[in-house]
This record gives sequence, C-alpha cells and structure tokens, in this order.
Amino acid sequence: MKTKKIELSTLAEMKRQGTAITMVTAYDAPTARLVDEAGVDTVLVGDSVANVVLGYADTVAISMEEMLHHTRAVSRGLTRALLIGDMPFMSYNVTVEQAIENAGRFMKEGRAQAVKLEGGGWVADTAAAMVKAGIPVVGHLGLTPQTAGMLGGYRVQGKDAQSARQIFDDALALQAAGAFALVLECVPDRLGELISKRLEIPVIGIGAGANTDGQVLVFHDLVGIKAGFSPKFVKQYAQAGQILQDAVADFCAEVRQRTFPAEEHSFRIADDQFAALEAALNKNTSGS
Ligand code: KIV
Repeated sequence: MKTKKIELSTLAEMKRQGTAITMVTAYDAPTARLVDEAGVDTVLVGDSVANVVLGYADTVAISMEEMLHHTRAVSRGLTRALLIGDMPFMSYNVTVEQAIENAGRFMKEGRAQAVKLEGGGWVADTAAAMVKAGIPVVGHLGLTPQTAGMLGGYRVQGKDAQSARQIFDDALALQAAGAFALVLECVPDRLGELISKRLEIPVIGIGAGANTDGQVLVFHDLVGIKAGFSPKFVKQYAQAGQILQDAVADFCAEVRQRTFPAEEHSFRIADDQFAALEAALNKNTSGS
C-alpha cells in the first residue's frame, strides 16, 4: 500500500492521470486508522456523523463543537489520507467572516487539511474568501442533505435540462472560486460523467455513476453497520453489523455459561504466593 501523504496536488495529479480517487467518511480515531491503513486517499468527517452515529434525525442540528470533536479524533488516526472536515449547517451561511472563522477552526483545532461546504453559486463568494484566507475548499452539489427540504427531499437531482444546467453552472462557479474538488451527490450517471469531464478539478461522486473522478461512501454503509434504509447508490462490502452483533451475543452467552473468562484471559499466581495472600487477607479480616 502507498505510504506517501496525500496532498491537494496528489488529487489534481490523479485526475490528470485518470486514477480514481477514493474517499470514505470516518468519525473516530480507530476507524480513521482502519481506513487509512486500507489505503483510502481522502477521509471526510461528514456531518452525516449526526444521523449515522449521534442519533439525530438529519444533519441540520449538529454543531461546530461536535464536528470539531470528531474531526480531532479522526486526525489522530490518520497518517496518509487527506482529512476534510464538513462544515455544519449555518456555520458558513451567515456572513463570510463567520465562514472563514469556522473553517479556520476546522484546520487549527480539528487538524483538517480542507473543509467541505454544501451549495452552489450562492456560496461561491464565501468559498473564494476561504481560499484567499488559505483554506482549501471542497464543494458539494446535487443532493445537498443540509437543504434537502428545499430540493423536494432526498431525491435524485439534475434529471431535467434546467436543473442539470444549474448544477453545471454551480460547479463552474465553485471551480472558479478556487475549490480544489467537488462532491457530486445523487445525480444521473451521465450528468456525473459530463460534469467530471468538463471540470478541471476532481469530481468525487456518490450516487453520480461510475464515470466521476472518484467515489465516496459513508463508512457505516460500506461495511454494513447501519440499520434501516439504504440508498440505491450504496454497496455493502461486508455485513459488519451482523458480525459485531454475533460477537456480542457470543460474549453474553459465554458469560452466562461461565466459560468466559477462560484460564488464558486470567492473571494467575503460584500456589505459595496465593497461600501468603490468603493468609494476609484472613489476618486482616479477623483483626488479629
Ligand atoms: O456528510 C457526509 O457524509 C457527506 C458524504 C455523503 C459526501 O457529505
């Protein structure tokens, strides 16, 4: 597995070479270590941590402090992959100053190498100001979960000519603003391909077909931990949820049968040591 640290320039070069870029989410240090060692190129501390891990109904409620907490944890587990922090709803939407300050916190406190923000042309000025301040930015277009309500819910975007054109124009605006990559979520595969071909920056798809410059999946979806509804674009590469549940059930059964812990899980002392120890205990309890 390659060990050279992934930089922004690595991703640009991968696009030039036609090498597919991999991105997965992670929300804690052990998962970060695991995906890093598996060879993933970029790790996103997605605001999906809100519903995937923290039990929120959607991503809207999560705070800057919660995102920073998880980003810091992930940074401690990475050595190779590029770390991207996801800016939560309303952390970049009020003023440009607020956006720069919060994005700066992702880098200074969260130790992220870049931030991601959702939205099109209307966040381009904000993205440009962040880039000018020295903060690398990833855009996010198509289905943008923070504003899913305004898009008619969690549904495929860009299916008609007008909305496809809008997504394309937004992508160009983000590129012109200096974004170094774009996440494109839930659009028809041929639109994903078209936008990837027309943009100079890498386009990382999720539900955007096979011909984008890279692919991103939520870790819990990929390994089959998440319960409930799974979107069409998810492929489960393992059923880790079942494996974990079976392991815990086996633990419960062995504890109840008193077959765990076994001798190899216990700390043993020699008979004479134990005799001395028992005598000392007896002495104390008798008070003599
Ligand atoms: O929050 C997230 O996990 C994301 C990915 C699905 C791209 O934005």
